[in-house]
Amino acid sequence: MKIVPDRYGKCMTDTHIEVFATGGTIAGMAGSATRRDYRPGQIGIDDLLAGMAALGLPAKLVGHQFANIGSEDIGPELWRKLHEAAAQRMGDSACQGIIITHGTDTAEETAFLFDQTLPTTKPVVLVGAMRPADAVGSDGMRNFANAVRVASDPEAAGRGVLLVMSDHIFAARDARKARTEGANAFRGFPRGPVGHVTPASLEWFGPPWRVDEPARFEFHENMPKVSILYAYAGMSAENVVQALEGGAKGLVLAGFGHGNASGGIRAALADAVAAGVPVVRASRVDEGLVDREPDDDAHGFIAARALGPPKARILLQLLLANGINDPVRAQQAFDRR
Ligand code: DGL
Repeated sequence: MKIVPDRYGKCMTDTHIEVFATGGTIAGMAGSATRRDYRPGQIGIDDLLAGMAALGLPAKLVGHQFANIGSEDIGPELWRKLHEAAAQRMGDSACQGIIITHGTDTAEETAFLFDQTLPTTKPVVLVGAMRPADAVGSDGMRNFANAVRVASDPEAAGRGVLLVMSDHIFAARDARKARTEGANAFRGFPRGPVGHVTPASLEWFGPPWRVDEPARFEFHENMPKVSILYAYAGMSAENVVQALEGGAKGLVLAGFGHGNASGGIRAALADAVAAGVPVVRASRVDEGLVDREPDDDAHGFIAARALGPPKARILLQLLLANGINDPVRAQQAFDRR
């Protein structure tokens, strides 16, 4: 076995990593190094792995092309296929880690869904890029090499699903796409990055906090419909009624500031809870906790805490799909790191 010590004294061995490719900008091409528009999902996994092999990283990468699309088109069907494959590899002693290449637009949602529905026993790492493969200063290969380094490190296990971008390692619960452009588009909240990685080094900022945790929820392809209501000045309670008439089994308020809404909206949301439709208060503001307020007990609302609306929606879907309707238990799930 080839052992390559790095300057931090850790070792990368010939680890067996399974790579699930889905497309995104990391597989994107513009056709010119200086063109602004480009198409995601143009390069196949074999070509990506050939590029990686040229870097000489001591890992055995086995690629699987699940899709080659922009992540705005990712949803339950592809999630099921990826989840099934990941769960299978969790029980396969030959596989030491999983990398999922993914568009950045919905990477935080896939990462969080899998974070909640896979055991934490092996590294699972999502990676993407903000610049297509043929752009000047493309970030794809560097991010990919970083992801290989993370997925090869046994210490990456016990931290849930991780997202690697711009030399940062984010926990799925914290990762947020915070910018539309630029290689450093992701931020972590409430924690910043949990580690720093380059193709030549890896440093964790603390010990794993979820060692040997089983999956928190069972994965379901067909989860109950949960709608996000984005608050705006002058919004009417009609929006709540329409969401319910549209079949929503749960609601997430992307509220003002600390998860606030007008009196009319709050009353309509309280009616929804009384009718058996759980309501989570999140915020349309990019950063900050939404904690419980005295009214939440009276209305039966759940506070999203550190989760933004898209991840709050996934967690509420998982709770409902797993038969958890009790607001106290639901709140505990939102409070959990
Ligand atoms: N539409 C985007 C997606 O696949 C491309 C952007 C990206 O990957 O950064 O999510």
